[in-house]
Amino acid sequence: MNINDELTLKVEKISSEGKGIARHNGFVIFIENACPEDLLKCKIIHLTKSFAEAEILEILEPSPHRIKPMCPMQKICGSCQIQFIDYDYQIELKKQIVEDTKKSILPDYDLEVKIPVKSPEIQEFRHKVQVPVRETKVSKRLLAGYFKPKSHELINIKYCPIQTETSDKIIDFIRNEAKNFNIKGYDEDKHSGELKHIVIRSSTLNQYLVTLVINSKVFGEKYKKFAKALMENFDNVKGVCVNINPKKTNVILSEKTICLEGTEYIEEKILDKTFKIGTNTFFQVNPKSAENIFRYVRDYIKNNFTSPLVLDAYAGVGAFGIILSDISKKVVSIEENKSSVELGKKLLKINNINNMEMHCEDAEKFFKKEKRQFDITVLDPPRRGCSEKSLENALKLTTNKIIYVSCNPATLFRDLKYLIKKGSKVESVQPFDMFVHSYHIENVAIIDVTDVKI
Ligand SMILES: C[S@@+](CC[C@H](N)C(=O)[O-])C[C@H]1O[C@@H](n2cnc3c(N)ncnc32)[C@H](O)[C@@H]1O
Repeated sequence: MNINDELTLKVEKISSEGKGIARHNGFVIFIENACPEDLLKCKIIHLTKSFAEAEILEILEPSPHRIKPMCPMQKICGSCQIQFIDYDYQIELKKQIVEDTKKSILPDYDLEVKIPVKSPEIQEFRHKVQVPVRETKVSKRLLAGYFKPKSHELINIKYCPIQTETSDKIIDFIRNEAKNFNIKGYDEDKHSGELKHIVIRSSTLNQYLVTLVINSKVFGEKYKKFAKALMENFDNVKGVCVNINPKKTNVILSEKTICLEGTEYIEEKILDKTFKIGTNTFFQVNPKSAENIFRYVRDYIKNNFTSPLVLDAYAGVGAFGIILSDISKKVVSIEENKSSVELGKKLLKINNINNMEMHCEDAEKFFKKEKRQFDITVLDPPRRGCSEKSLENALKLTTNKIIYVSCNPATLFRDLKYLIKKGSKVESVQPFDMFVHSYHIENVAIIDVTDVKI
């Protein structure tokens, strides 16, 4: 096989990154925007010893699961890799992705992956939006949208079906009006100009918080005036902030956020508990799907324990702990982000919770020195998962179950492998679709640790 070879390929399945997988004489070929059961005419565009990548030249026979994607920019933007596949089949494919990851890491372990719980919404489900802003070279018009995959070429996007219509309108307002307030777009090459990103957080209560990320240590009166104009134009914008980020960096937000107008937090309600969401604090991007996960974990504990002592690790604002507080003797949460812990402590007061203690610290350090024994530990780490040391210490602290919540199947099964090696038993893995139209999938694993001896 050579570069530029043209081949007819039948797509067999989907990879963990949402690409179609076909074989030519047994050799694996990955194809973007391909669906299982497609018959395709393809051109080889990349070749290695173990696999090739191909692009579609022609769809000879489309898979019966292909649909017209709701977004005209689907292929260019790259965020919704499988939006051209019907939703029921997306769910089947995500189950297959989790099963394949399990098979490659734990081939002989007897464990059934359950059918993923669908997202209650498949449009306008995304409540956190972060769009880069740039300026056109000649007319100096503002552009706001997404970078092309693996590039810093900005695509101006006016409509995104997975974010709320109001988010589109807010971005459009900023794109059209910021110039009238003498706010310039950022120039990445020269590291000059001002407005780098627009960050929008919203809640299912239809409240919005808009943050303008700027390439400057100071912000003038013009930003305050612009914030006022934004609030006057959108009833549901409850606050406008600036985030001061003058560094040349890919990190979108610095830690320094200043509220210009209105409030610095918006409100969210999940399972009768009140939450607040700020610019720098963690909250799940798809709150309705997150609610399904919180309910699942709460119901499991309610049905199997009476008044347990719970450790909520990698806690964000303490969402799991707050939801579990009613059915627990006590919850101890651990989170390293200061803004999230400060907000979490306010949430305890707002929700009248007196049996929860919140620590701001690195989880690994906390696990090492903590002396109490917990009936249940909820682990909800970032995509990179947990270190072996953390897992070992979490096992020492936990007498009955670890509930591992993960947004990355590869690190989840790697960590489960370690826990199994230490004597744990994985009872179940339940996927939840939090990131509709993408290859991403959230999982909740319930792990019995009663027989572990460390
Ligand atoms: C996937 S989020 C989970 C948040 C929370 N459980 C929720 O559902 O809202 C992971 C959290 O882990 C925190 N984190 C990352 N590394 C950490 C560490 N080493 N120690 C403690 N917290 C950490 C992040 O700040 C983030 O809030």
